[in-house]
Amino acid sequence: MSTVSNEVVVIDAVRTAFGRAGEKGIFWKTRADDLCIPLLKALFERNPKIKPNMIDDSIWGCTNQLKETGGTIGRMIPILTLKQDGWEIPGVSVDRMCAGGLTAIGFGISYIASGMADCIVAGGIEHMGHLPMGIMREPHPGAIEAMGDETALNMGQTAENIHDQFPEFDKEMADAYAVNSQRKAEEAIKAGKMKDMIIPLEAEFEDGTKFIADKDQGPRPGTSMEGLSNLKTPFREENGRVTPGNASGLNDGAGAVLLMSRGKARELGLKPVMRWVSTGVAAVDPRLMGIAPVPATKRALERADLTVKDLDIIELNEAFAVQCLYDLDRLGLKADDPRVNMWGGSLAYGHPLAASGPRLVSFLTGLFRENPKARYGLTTMCVGRGQGYSIIWENLI
Ligand SMILES: CC(C)(COP(=O)(O)OP(=O)(O)OC[C@H]1O[C@@H](n2cnc3c(N)ncnc32)[C@H](O)[C@@H]1OP(=O)(O)O)[C@@H](O)C(=O)NCCC(=O)NCCS
Repeated sequence: MSTVSNEVVVIDAVRTAFGRAGEKGIFWKTRADDLCIPLLKALFERNPKIKPNMIDDSIWGCTNQLKETGGTIGRMIPILTLKQDGWEIPGVSVDRMCAGGLTAIGFGISYIASGMADCIVAGGIEHMGHLPMGIMREPHPGAIEAMGDETALNMGQTAENIHDQFPEFDKEMADAYAVNSQRKAEEAIKAGKMKDMIIPLEAEFEDGTKFIADKDQGPRPGTSMEGLSNLKTPFREENGRVTPGNASGLNDGAGAVLLMSRGKARELGLKPVMRWVSTGVAAVDPRLMGIAPVPATKRALERADLTVKDLDIIELNEAFAVQCLYDLDRLGLKADDPRVNMWGGSLAYGHPLAASGPRLVSFLTGLFRENPKARYGLTTMCVGRGQGYSIIWENLI
């Protein structure tokens, strides 16, 4: 019986710029798979000791695996990127909605930890412009009853449900949280923090003019409480609190992470950024999906014999501000805790579902590099249908 348990490390993490979904988005004229190819190319270019024949599997998360993201995109990315040199790289696609990419990373970790693999590329891709949320989905006729009520199917309504059930988190607090996220993003972008992780790629405007997409399109610098005060509440006509200002947007983007066994990294003379410590996956009432990072994080912490106090950097995906307010509070953190989303979060950058997990990981690698004294970091997200996924990492810088 094999009792192998390898240490798993992150060598590199990259992403595309995140665009707004739709005709005004920077990737409206770019295929989803064309967002992934430059990422795999960049991982090889940035890490020249890694050769295609070292990749044991290419695992990609994607929510809507149709059309340009259909046909096992995890397998197609290495083939499209490397042509014949990619034929011998296996590939698989996974779906856990918003945490699809984080789950791909989690599966890659499991492969390496168990001794099944030494080197994995794990990523996430979502083109919400070409393949909008819920496209071609046919929920089971019993799904609504099974999940409690119809709000479980609409993520904005699950956020309104959190406001209903936990009225201590009101709209003003949600707006203040969003303003803070936008402010942190504005400062981070100005300070050039995105440069190392964003892989520029050529894209095209509607009229055919080419340009280099190397900046996130989502952030709205100068966001103020006043500016957010009168926005529409698309998920509830009367007395709604969730607005386009305190919800993440609809976005196109991709991210990819290079995982390796620590032994293989040593053999190749590569310096890892961080080490996997533990994972927690949990599920809750689907009508309150945004609260699930709490039990998921508690599980990950327990498995690592750590507490929230041990976490120096926290990357919490911001699907909705109210969900972050709840999660932070229940984990014993203040809404403006300086360890949380230091460079801002998805309320500013946008949330291309399965691509957001790899974005959190790329932010954490950047933050670990910048804060060598920080020891433990958390990446955590909520997931449609009521799930949470958390991974704890240790800084090796
Ligand atoms: C909330 C949502 C419906 C908004 O969609 P939208 O109307 O296309 O959003 P927009 O970006 O066009 O913003 C709408 C308006 O709010 C304004 N706005 C948005 N953010 C703002 C900010 N930070 N400050 C000021 N105004 C802002 C925009 O300027 C826009 O105004 P306009 O119509 O006058 O141009 C959409 O983003 C959504 O569905 N989000 C949730 C996605 C989701 O469920 N993801 C999964 C999570 S689990």
